[in-house]
Amino acid sequence: MAPSAAPADKAAPGTARGEDALAALTALVRDDLEACNRLIVERMQSRVALIPELAAHIVAAGGKRLRPLLTLAAARLVGYRGDRHVGLAACVEFIHTATLLHDDVVDESALRRGQASANALFGNKPSVLVGDFLFARAFELMVADGSLEVLRILSSASAVLVEGEVLQLVIQNDMSATEAQYLEVIEGKTAALFAAATEVGAVVAGRPAAEQAALRAYGHNLGVAFQLIDDALDYSAEQERLGKTVGDDFREGKITLPVLLAFARGDEEERAFWRRTVEEREQAGPDLPRAIALMQKHHAFADTVARARHYGDAALAALMTFPDGAERRALADVVEFCISRAR
Ligand code: FPP
Ligand code: MG
Repeated sequence: MAPSAAPADKAAPGTARGEDALAALTALVRDDLEACNRLIVERMQSRVALIPELAAHIVAAGGKRLRPLLTLAAARLVGYRGDRHVGLAACVEFIHTATLLHDDVVDESALRRGQASANALFGNKPSVLVGDFLFARAFELMVADGSLEVLRILSSASAVLVEGEVLQLVIQNDMSATEAQYLEVIEGKTAALFAAATEVGAVVAGRPAAEQAALRAYGHNLGVAFQLIDDALDYSAEQERLGKTVGDDFREGKITLPVLLAFARGDEEERAFWRRTVEEREQAGPDLPRAIALMQKHHAFADTVARARHYGDAALAALMTFPDGAERRALADVVEFCISRAR
């Protein structure tokens, strides 16, 4: 993956191929998704006007609804015909939205989904508190569902997610961090919610443990692949098309796989560059382009995408334990969607 503007025929959200990959899934669960969106709008209301105002800013900003789509399709994949999955899909989206509100405060990000982030527009305090509100609404939806197993899966995913974020903070600006630690971070902050989102699909359908585990494995591996690509994109001009700022991770000294690979493969002078910019956070104008050039020189992008593909293949293998059908094909396309974002 080259960190320069992608040719127009390459896939990314906003291009035909990137959108096509999600279109089949969206079309397949259209009615369920509409019901989920209605529930999201209904449950984000509050008598305190700032809450729906701020929540609407991020909810209406045009997220992909990827996680709720996964819950809806996973339930349908295993033959569920009721409507509990709609409430749980909304719950998953509320958890996700709460984490984004908190994340943009933690990361001091000014841009989200192509718009000023909620923290940039409303300030840090309202963003954190509305995040708390949405997280609380998510728990109300779990309680309304009534399944202790669902509550166990989604609450423990929330804890693991925060652990991933805290570990990320611990290893930030530390070039002695390991790939294993990085993997633990992304398994927590991203894959845990993907895994829970798909696993609950099997739970509402009352499917056997093996199917629950397969859906969980699909979500987990997809989530790891998704975050690997996200971390490569942070150094790519593609990032602008995704509505985020290029180089945020570098400026913060976030330890991601492209950084770890370029550092490990660099000579002494290059390692000194990474220590100065990432560990000591001493950065000047030409440092981000240099970081990108070093990543290209050491094939850090290509190898990050290859790693994502490896996890994508594991997600597909888990999915292939289910019979062929429209849902399975659409969920398989999601793997391609996640990985093709980097092309
Ligand atoms: C995005 O990562 C962030 C996450 C996937 C998780 C953020 C979680 C928290 C801040 C903990 C709050 C938790 C709860 C339960 C409210 P990123 O910064 O790499 O991606 P980005 O480029 O989209 O910002
Ligand atoms: Mg962030």
